[in-house]
Amino acid sequence: GHERELLEEQVPSIKRAIKLDGRQVSDLELIAVGAFSPLEGFMGKDDYESVVQNMRLANGLPFSIPITLAVEEEIGLKLKEDNDVLLQDCGGKTIGILHLKEKFKYDKKKEAQLVYRTTDNAHPGVNYLKTSGNILLGGKVSLLEREQMSFSEYSLDPAESRKLFHDNGWKRVVGFQTRNPVHRAHEYIQKSALEAVDGLFLHPLVGATKKGDIPAEVRMECYKVLLENYYPKNRVVLGVLPAAMRYAGPREAVFHAIIRKNYGCTHFIVGRDHAGVGDYYGSFDAHYIFDEFDIGELGIAPLFFDYTFFCKICGSMASYKTCPHDSTEHISLSGTKVREMLKAGKLPPKEFSRPEVAKILVDWAKANK
Ligand code: ADX
Repeated sequence: GHERELLEEQVPSIKRAIKLDGRQVSDLELIAVGAFSPLEGFMGKDDYESVVQNMRLANGLPFSIPITLAVEEEIGLKLKEDNDVLLQDCGGKTIGILHLKEKFKYDKKKEAQLVYRTTDNAHPGVNYLKTSGNILLGGKVSLLEREQMSFSEYSLDPAESRKLFHDNGWKRVVGFQTRNPVHRAHEYIQKSALEAVDGLFLHPLVGATKKGDIPAEVRMECYKVLLENYYPKNRVVLGVLPAAMRYAGPREAVFHAIIRKNYGCTHFIVGRDHAGVGDYYGSFDAHYIFDEFDIGELGIAPLFFDYTFFCKICGSMASYKTCPHDSTEHISLSGTKVREMLKAGKLPPKEFSRPEVAKILVDWAKANK
């Protein structure tokens, strides 16, 4: 539109440019489309410190993950506050403008401890933080160029998903975050939640994930066959979230909920070990953290699910909340166990994975040996 033209006219007069990494590019886009609302830019010092310390922006609104733009000191030194800076992707293409308001130093150790609850370098979120630059740049952003989306068919901006839910006549919509191949415990909690609301927004994260996680293309194939075969078409919307995983467990669960509110959801599923990695977090820490907020101020209601599995005696999916039988009767597999089976060319059992999904995973594992 008009605004964009005006911005593009300014580009030649902007003297400084910085290159963004993949996560920063995705943060820029998500800020610009309103997925991280109320953020309009990368956090300044007051917001940053308040979010790290209190899970709130300086104005008191809930926000649990710092959204920052880190650069190396020698780059930061050259940039002047109250000046514009071009934002480039890794290929050097200008994709946006940072209206630089302030630059500041920050305490990485404190951020690691408070946001990730650990300073261990083996934690992927902490590792990213520690290898980031030492200066943070705060200020509003303007997006000029969208990155080529790999899942354009499933690309929905917050304004589009909101409209879609509205057009469907859905008043109550539950959002589902996921970064792993869909299995029957996921399906069970999605459908259990759907029983109580009008629509389900399946919103797999397709931005940067850690080594060892299954690629988004494969996960999307799994979702396609699952939806074709097991889900009612008029009750489900599948859209991708091009965000990077932080693996911040409980803090990220709150962040994930806020994002889904922005996409138009009224409810959000939080199950076992949400956004966890290794054993840095207790299985239900991501439930307890919601006690620190009023649902009204969050603007979205979490729906908590206990550990779910297939029970051989019940003959169905169940959870520790609903199943009285011994855990030896339960079929549930860890991500590590599934990866081992796939590597060995073995299909996960039908109690764990729908056969159509299992086939995609095992074929992928074979092709990527
Ligand atoms: S996550 O990093 O996106 O949380 P994953 O894709 O495995 O990982 O999980 C998606 C959602 O399903 C999360 O809310 C998680 O807590 C929940 N979940 C995954 N497996 C189970 C399970 N067996 N029982 C209950 N909830 C689960």
